[in-house]
Amino acid sequence: MARLASAPGWLFVLSAVLHRGLSSPLASKEAWGYVDVRAGAHMFWWLYYADSPSYQDLPLVLWLQGGPGGSGTGFGNFEEIGPLDRDLQPRKTSWVQAASVLFVDNPVGTGFSYTDSPDAYATDVATVASDMLVLLENFFTQRPEFQSIPFHIFSESYGGKMAAAISLELTKAVAQGKVKCRFVGVALGDSWISPLDSVMTWGPYLYTTSLLDDYGLADVNNAAQAVKQAVDQQQFAKATELWSVAETVIEQNTNGVNFYNILTQDPDEKLTSSAGESYISLQVRRHLHRLHGRSLSELMNGPIRKKLGIIPQNVTWGGQAEYVFSYMAGDFMKPVVDIVDQLLTAGVNVTVYNGQLDLIVDTMGQELWVKRLKWDGLSAFNQLKWTPVDDPVSRSITGAFYKTYKNFAFYWILKAGHMIPSDQGPMALQMLKMIIQQD
Ligand SMILES: *[C@@H]1O[C@H](CO)[C@@H](O)[C@H](O)[C@H]1NC(C)=O
Ligand SMILES: *[C@@H]1O[C@H](CO)[C@@H](O)[C@H](O)[C@H]1NC(C)=O
Repeated sequence: MARLASAPGWLFVLSAVLHRGLSSPLASKEAWGYVDVRAGAHMFWWLYYADSPSYQDLPLVLWLQGGPGGSGTGFGNFEEIGPLDRDLQPRKTSWVQAASVLFVDNPVGTGFSYTDSPDAYATDVATVASDMLVLLENFFTQRPEFQSIPFHIFSESYGGKMAAAISLELTKAVAQGKVKCRFVGVALGDSWISPLDSVMTWGPYLYTTSLLDDYGLADVNNAAQAVKQAVDQQQFAKATELWSVAETVIEQNTNGVNFYNILTQDPDEKLTSSAGESYISLQVRRHLHRLHGRSLSELMNGPIRKKLGIIPQNVTWGGQAEYVFSYMAGDFMKPVVDIVDQLLTAGVNVTVYNGQLDLIVDTMGQELWVKRLKWDGLSAFNQLKWTPVDDPVSRSITGAFYKTYKNFAFYWILKAGHMIPSDQGPMALQMLKMIIQQD
């Protein structure tokens, strides 16, 4: 079964043919396949060529979703930046206008990726990175036309933690000639780079935005202190469990604020942890289920798997997601700030972008770890003032601020939560163009 799926592993078909039966034929080309990244570990990827007569003139962007266990080929593709939305209607703010976009379902077990046995799941970010390196080496070898095209990695949430680790390994592999590509930079969107800085700023952020009273602030800060103690003692599995407890304390004190956008509240999504439920199960419901909404699951396991034609019969999109998350639980609360520092020193272009209304990875927390970087450009960066960016839709309204010095940039995206392209599609596309220098 596994072999069958990944034997040639490479399909290349004009989407005009493939999209028969889907409502909106695409102008651009696409391709997809599986790569066996380890024994029993099959990784699915989906590439959209830039929607331009000469895609070679535009960069290549790899998109990494969060979770871990969230699917780029599903959520990122149909809910955020792909050429079609969840109703298979063309997306006006698709990133395919500015770049070729490669979605990869990682870690293995995510989306249409799958493992043959439990011991094939990744349990740390180092394995996640080495798995992706196998995929990228395969990708650039099979598609030499992309070897000379500027290559960028964009990410969201936990995807940013993976993107940092992957970028460092890729930089080494390119220097050693193991992977042939023109790696330019990595963009970390609402990224889980320093989990503790996020947790420690939840209270102050919610208090300033009228979502906690004094009692609530004290409760949330106490819960955050418990997480800090576990992290300080390097008890990372315990820290992940206490992170979950801190979120329950927030829900109780805010009447169920949405962790992904503090200005929205969906009464149907209010969670109550049932007695005896494991914290992993609660966190899967809290964080992974929203990436696997019913209509997206129906799309992926219905018309999309039919169109793709290579998904093994017993593989369900999202079917292994909760295992991906639970196998990574011991690694979840570890920071990767040192990796970002190494990337900056290595000359990789690093961009941090964050949504103003995101709670789970609030901007205050990002500012804290950025200010602790050892990068020698930091003091010059700190002395700069930010520059406003007009909202691309209403030109007299500010859509973002940004600041850049040497190979580091920070974008503050206004009126957006955790999923910036879903909340502010035109601004996200504008930011993409600025980062990849198409604008
Ligand atoms: C699917 O079935 C094959 C053959 O029975 C098995 O080897 C594989 O592990 C199964 N995969 C999943 C994801 O259940
Ligand atoms: C980083 O971006 C700048 C443009 O801002 C570009 O000149 C430079 O080549 C990029 N760095 C790398 C490693 O490609």
